[in-house]
Amino acid sequence: MKYNLQFSFKLRGKFPVEAQERMKEWFTELQQLLEKGIQERDLKKISKVKKWVLKSVNEKEDELLLTVVSGETMPAHHALLRMRKFFSGKFGKEFRLGISGIDIKSYKIDIDIPNKPAKEFTLPFVSTIIFTNDTAKITLEKNIPIDFIEKGSIDRIVKLVRNKIVEQIIRGKDEHHLVVWSSEQKKPVTNENPTDIMIKDGWIQRTSYRNQWIFAPAISALTETLKEIMVEHLYKPLGFKNMVFPKVVPWEVWKRSGHLSGIYQGGFEPYFVCTPKTADPEYWEEIADYFRITLEIEPEKIMEKLRPPIGGLSFAQCPPFWTYLQGKTISDDSFPLFYYDWSGPTFRYESGAAHGFERVDELHRIETLYIGFPEQIKKVAQDLRANFRKIIGDVLDLEFREAWVTPWWSSQEGKGDDEEESTIELKNFDQIGTIDMEIYMPYRGKRNQSNWLETQNVSILGNKYTKNFTVKSQSGKELWSGCGGGSFERYISAFVAQKGTNPDKWPEKLLKYIDELPSGPTFL
Ligand code: SER
Ligand code: ZN
Repeated sequence: MKYNLQFSFKLRGKFPVEAQERMKEWFTELQQLLEKGIQERDLKKISKVKKWVLKSVNEKEDELLLTVVSGETMPAHHALLRMRKFFSGKFGKEFRLGISGIDIKSYKIDIDIPNKPAKEFTLPFVSTIIFTNDTAKITLEKNIPIDFIEKGSIDRIVKLVRNKIVEQIIRGKDEHHLVVWSSEQKKPVTNENPTDIMIKDGWIQRTSYRNQWIFAPAISALTETLKEIMVEHLYKPLGFKNMVFPKVVPWEVWKRSGHLSGIYQGGFEPYFVCTPKTADPEYWEEIADYFRITLEIEPEKIMEKLRPPIGGLSFAQCPPFWTYLQGKTISDDSFPLFYYDWSGPTFRYESGAAHGFERVDELHRIETLYIGFPEQIKKVAQDLRANFRKIIGDVLDLEFREAWVTPWWSSQEGKGDDEEESTIELKNFDQIGTIDMEIYMPYRGKRNQSNWLETQNVSILGNKYTKNFTVKSQSGKELWSGCGGGSFERYISAFVAQKGTNPDKWPEKLLKYIDELPSGPTFL
């Protein structure tokens, strides 16, 4: 690591004649200050002032121009902040002069990297990056404001350069996927595409909008049945309470949940929400009139009347919940907190053309959320897993399996990569990570050659959310959380894929909840 920073302290006045001499003493004093507490072997890596010049800016102001170089122990921009304090003291006390500003003239950083990236990249605030096999040489844009340094942004640039290279390697590999349990094989009653069956039977209808569907009465009734089953087999026995989570999510929430780091990078594809610049009727009158005359709208014209997005539509369902607990200290005896939400759809902008009912832009999900001490979270994750098994395998009588999936961000932390990619049994789910319940889809092909449908997940997330939303326990003991999501679209697609739409062929344990499936109109 090499840092080379040129900047100046601008003065609210002119240096007195003796300044030159005093400076020399002060730089010696400064260097001693910087070296204080630094271990011998790291001394080479701390900041050193390579060059300094007193210069006139105009007849009223002077500046102190500096070149500071360093290694990684005390990067030059950290030294800058300490020098500001040091020199404001000296200038104030001895010359009665204040520092009026700091100009960053140039900042070059040589960052150690594990390898040359497969694909070169650029970054905001960075004017050039040159990659060699072990170094990324970056030059920051000119006139970086000082609060950029104060807020830690330079350190995050350095980290980001390294992380992007590591991520390229990990993303190149498949997601870590390990089957940890499988149900027995079951004979499907159909091998047709469930979307086709459900359209044919009038259960669902595509709208004019991409990947959006209308649930007709039959599938709506089945959805309600599923809810009943979830309550009876999962939420009631484990003590989960229903809540209504917001569905419009401001940036603030996604900043804390960490989603914004991955926006449109594969995994977080939100719909954005814009509000009008004003709700004044006069402001909108031309739009209304235009429509009354042409019976059309001009979306571009509307765009001009909108503010930039305030955030987006709920994507992962649980993040907007966290405002409920944010900044709170909660009594120890309140834990564990167990909630579920199915109060409205969540949205994701699915790329590519039309998908079936298994992959929709507007999805109706059940979010299961748990917050508590680590032992409580480990226990409930295992309980949820067992109860989901009952629902999927027993009540719905489906063939499915469980896979231990490590998202790229956590496999980066060095877990799992060396494990053998074979079927192992994970008896107890008690570590940070995710179990996906995947249901066999006969229409997609043979069991061992086709993709099974990820229908439900159960995750242990550690302290990620509790920390980022500053939720504390009364005793100060660490809090963990976890969550799991499953959509009705996927549950029912998977069910119909194995069992069809004819209740005569459905499992007894499910039929117990259904008197008769309501039908829709007869379309002629
Ligand atoms: N919130 C989690 C997710 O979106 C579980 O539903 O994956
Ligand atoms: Zn969640």
